[in-house]
Amino acid sequence: MYRDRLPLFPDTVALRPDKNGQPALHVGGRDLNELAAEFGTPLYIYDQHTIDSAVQAYQDALGRHYSGPAGITYAGKASLNLAMARLMAAHGLLVDCTGVGELHIARTAGVPRAQILLHGVNKSWPDLQAGFAQAGTLVVDNLPELARIAQLAHARGPAPSLWLRVRPGYAVDTHQFRQTGQLDSKFGMDADECVDAVAFCQRNELPVTGLHFHQGSHFHAAEEVLPALDTVCELMGRLQQELDWWPQALSPGGGWGIAYHEKDLPHQSIEEYVATVAAALARNLSSFSLPLPRLQVEPGRSLVARAGVAIYQVGTVKRAGGRRWLLLDGGMADNIRPALYEARYSALPVTDPLGRLPLSENAWLAGPYCESGDLLIEDLPLPDIELGELLAVPVSGAYQLMMASNYNGALRPAVVMLRDGDAHLAQRRETVDDLLLRDIV
Ligand SMILES: Cc1ncc(COP(=O)(O)O)c(C=O)c1O
Repeated sequence: MYRDRLPLFPDTVALRPDKNGQPALHVGGRDLNELAAEFGTPLYIYDQHTIDSAVQAYQDALGRHYSGPAGITYAGKASLNLAMARLMAAHGLLVDCTGVGELHIARTAGVPRAQILLHGVNKSWPDLQAGFAQAGTLVVDNLPELARIAQLAHARGPAPSLWLRVRPGYAVDTHQFRQTGQLDSKFGMDADECVDAVAFCQRNELPVTGLHFHQGSHFHAAEEVLPALDTVCELMGRLQQELDWWPQALSPGGGWGIAYHEKDLPHQSIEEYVATVAAALARNLSSFSLPLPRLQVEPGRSLVARAGVAIYQVGTVKRAGGRRWLLLDGGMADNIRPALYEARYSALPVTDPLGRLPLSENAWLAGPYCESGDLLIEDLPLPDIELGELLAVPVSGAYQLMMASNYNGALRPAVVMLRDGDAHLAQRRETVDDLLLRDIV
């Protein structure tokens, strides 16, 4: 039973006997029961091997399918802490930071300035000032922001490399809260504004070197990028003709989706996505006798989501109106995604995950918070689950902890990085004293 859920877990998932001889879920060479006992629950674990393989998949695909220069930017908003920033920088990736807070994390982690890229739709002065000091590349969202950048350059000296964020007019097929590329989106500039922006940079001697677009997050058909890519390539032709300007770098953003639930499998691969984008870009630019720009993909979720597993303990089993409730020690405070955009997850018990038949009544998994919307998983086939059992929710590595809150005084969970049997505490669990850190006594 439930064998179709195993591919949702990190590459290193295995079933091995626990200390009582029962089959138990292992990840990164470690028994999830033992990790929960050592670090407490709710617990977030990341399998570094799975992240390494995803990075490698992007690198291999770019090398195989694009003849120009290419690179990867990690969208830090998916999951950022010192350990993650260091890991991505060590792989040679650029680290995309949104605002002064994420810049601080990346710089504290020691990510070299040249590998830091700053995003943001309404960057504040502190964001821009930190970007000047700490980032190698700044993605410009709009013309007023560009004017502020010119002011800063005048006062402080050379600006980082500037890429312009194009609003291509096409979103990808995803939840509307994750769409960004449509005509009426708050993100980026239309083609005329981009032409104005390049002209402004030329007049003000600002180092504009690239174009960027991002149509939304978590889409599943690579072809969805093509209309936007056509539009941006057309814009490149116009910029070349009108202003004699050609980008050194072109980023089609991120957003490549993944499977969260067994019903989302099989899923198109990273290679299929990259191959489609690379071929379309080369095709579109074949009539220009100009160098291919650096193709800089910008994934977040598809690099880290499947590496992460959330482990919860079941504190209460309840039956109400014909529904079987499993009440967990975490929920919307560490994972707002089901409440925010109906994200659908799956789960397995940590002990004997495949050996028990499902009960006729499916399970509803909810957290301890005072909201009926604090619902992690609806209507999931699961066996009889005892009080105190541990449940593992796969594909928990992206956009969960980054959107975590202290609602109801929740303490944000510990984060553990796993590699070859070693468990390294990357972030400790919050304490009640942390809740008072900002209060003036
Ligand atoms: C500008 C930009 N780039 C990249 C991403 C990464 O998207 P994903 O994590 O789905 O790959 C996002 C996500 O919202 C984004 O806003």
